[in-house]
Amino acid sequence: MDIHVISIFPEMFSAITEHGVIARAIKQGVISLSLHNPRDYANDRHNTVDGRPYGGGPGMVMMPDVMAKTVEAVFEKTQSEPKVIYVSPQGQRFDHKAAAGFASLPSNDSLIFIAGRYEGIDERFIVRYVDEEWSVGDYVLSGGELPVMIMVDAIARLLPSSLGNDESAKQDSFAQGLLDCPHYTRPETFEGESVPTVLLSGDHKAIEQWRLKQSLSRTQLRRPELLEAKALSVQERKLLDELEKKGTKSG
Ligand SMILES: C[S@@+](CC[C@H](N)C(=O)[O-])C[C@H]1O[C@@H](n2cnc3c(N)ncnc32)[C@H](O)[C@@H]1O
Repeated sequence: MDIHVISIFPEMFSAITEHGVIARAIKQGVISLSLHNPRDYANDRHNTVDGRPYGGGPGMVMMPDVMAKTVEAVFEKTQSEPKVIYVSPQGQRFDHKAAAGFASLPSNDSLIFIAGRYEGIDERFIVRYVDEEWSVGDYVLSGGELPVMIMVDAIARLLPSSLGNDESAKQDSFAQGLLDCPHYTRPETFEGESVPTVLLSGDHKAIEQWRLKQSLSRTQLRRPELLEAKALSVQERKLLDELEKKGTKSG
């Protein structure tokens, strides 16, 4: 998957291009990530990308013609017809399902992410060029770089062979409609607390059952609405009934 990012702060993206799973995915060619700075397409020698808002008021607005020149230059570099995504608090809410949807696109697809700054981008550019608007949550950040990195990270780690172990993403929270189970490592005893004995048993079936029960119990406690939305398997229903009975008795 070819990912293009339009941002006036391209250097911020070293957070994902130089570290961890996404850096590895780039090195291995699972994704490519190209950065494009609208300042390189500005109309003046000051590399201006923003102007005062018509009608007055605080803040500045990103100029439509500069943004259009930038995106048109990116179009020229892409082979397939790219989808243009503007990250915005006014977009649809990004979640696991959306990330999985992007990750299942054909591997030769291109995506163009646009990070806004200031009060945002002139509306005429958005109407003319943007295919989808996505939000990372109901709060306002000072720029779109972090939302773009959040989306790229969540999408790229779901691509086959991004993570060392393909099973890992399948067991993460939300992948199966449940929260993940708790995890433990060395030492076996930490401040008087021991690792659950089943995890030391070597009995893989019992471990799998314990993990599923933990996932169900956590989801029920922390995010019951996820359970309501999930089609439970016979085994999951049985384990949940057991948990509910236990809860009623102890309550
Ligand atoms: C200060 S914000 C502009 C907010 C805009 N005036 C509004 O209230 O909708 C600057 C840029 O940060 C990005 N941004 C801020 N919060 C975001 C969020 N929750 N999700 C996605 N992008 C966000 C957008 O690209 C936006 O153009």
